[in-house]
Amino acid sequence: MVLTQPAERALARVNLGAVERNSARLRAELTGGSELCAVVKAEGYGHGAVECARAAQAGGAAWLATATAAEAAELRAHGLVGPILVQGALTLDEAESALDAEADVVAWREEFLRRVAELAARRGRPARVHVKLDTGMGRLGTADAAEAHRVADMAAADADLELVGVMTHFATADEPGDEHFPLQLERFTAFVGDARERHPGVIAHAANSAATLREPAAHFDLVRCGVALYGLDPFQGDPAERDLEPALTLESYVGAVKRFEPGQSAGYGRTWRADAPTWVGVLPIGYGDGWRRALSNNAEALIGGARRPLVGTVSMDNVAVDLGRETDVAVGDRAVLVGAQGDERILCEEVARRLGTINYEVTCGLAPRVRRRYE
Ligand SMILES: Cc1ncc(COP(=O)(O)O)c(C=O)c1O
Repeated sequence: MVLTQPAERALARVNLGAVERNSARLRAELTGGSELCAVVKAEGYGHGAVECARAAQAGGAAWLATATAAEAAELRAHGLVGPILVQGALTLDEAESALDAEADVVAWREEFLRRVAELAARRGRPARVHVKLDTGMGRLGTADAAEAHRVADMAAADADLELVGVMTHFATADEPGDEHFPLQLERFTAFVGDARERHPGVIAHAANSAATLREPAAHFDLVRCGVALYGLDPFQGDPAERDLEPALTLESYVGAVKRFEPGQSAGYGRTWRADAPTWVGVLPIGYGDGWRRALSNNAEALIGGARRPLVGTVSMDNVAVDLGRETDVAVGDRAVLVGAQGDERILCEEVARRLGTINYEVTCGLAPRVRRRYE
């Protein structure tokens, strides 16, 4: 059956105006001349890195950040200008790619920095370096402030290197009231004081979205915001309460409607059976699109402006919805799995709660076969 559909089988509509407004909203939060760095790693948290980077810049982001060198190269290949910070650990090949993309790299060991200097010498252009102190994230960076100072001194002294920044990353900024965040902030603030004395002009940055929204003292010279840029709440609540606008709508459509009698089942393993006569709709979207199998009998879709429970096991390419005893839902009707329809809306935060995860993973998990449409 071929129909002219108002929607596609699995479509992610990305509202770039929302990304731009979220960027401007985060920018407005900043105090004391701090700048906004838009974190667009992992394809802009599933939304599309290049398009979201442009929208974030239109909203006032002065910097971009990625996790990998290849992501930085992709931004440059699409004409993105301005400083790009590659935040991840890099092999030497990757460091070379980062330098090719004229991106800044992060270092915390002298040995690595020596190799970066050699790469930069061959290019005849100093490598721009940010030194990372691990103040309690327990991930990248050195936890030894003396080592971080040595690495920074080396970057400042070597003609093939340029010391641009010092940085850290918070482990619990999204848990207001915890004791670890103030401790990390205190350690970093002390380190920044020394670093600025040794290297006037060095910039300091620490805050992710949660820290940016929670603590002005964490803003320093630059904040690195990802999740909030896409209108997702870093605290897993309602983004609207923080004036953030979700950018993503995930849509499918009703591909089939059929009558079920009591006892009839939908999907693999017969995990749902009609207990009364009802209509069932089939949406051609599934875990192959990133609509996870753990949402089996555990999600809703908006069709005709109303919430409809997903029933049965999520397949790779299809899910079923219970439309009720009487329905005017027809083949071709639009189905919204994330986003608004009429007065109803389904937030990524709701889907994340159902999955026992965080909103980040919901959008990052959308598969490449889901077309992104920019609006
Ligand atoms: C080092 C670093 N800075 C900033 C961010 C942005 O964090 P968020 O998306 O919570 O704003 C990330 C993302 O995880 C990160 O790894």
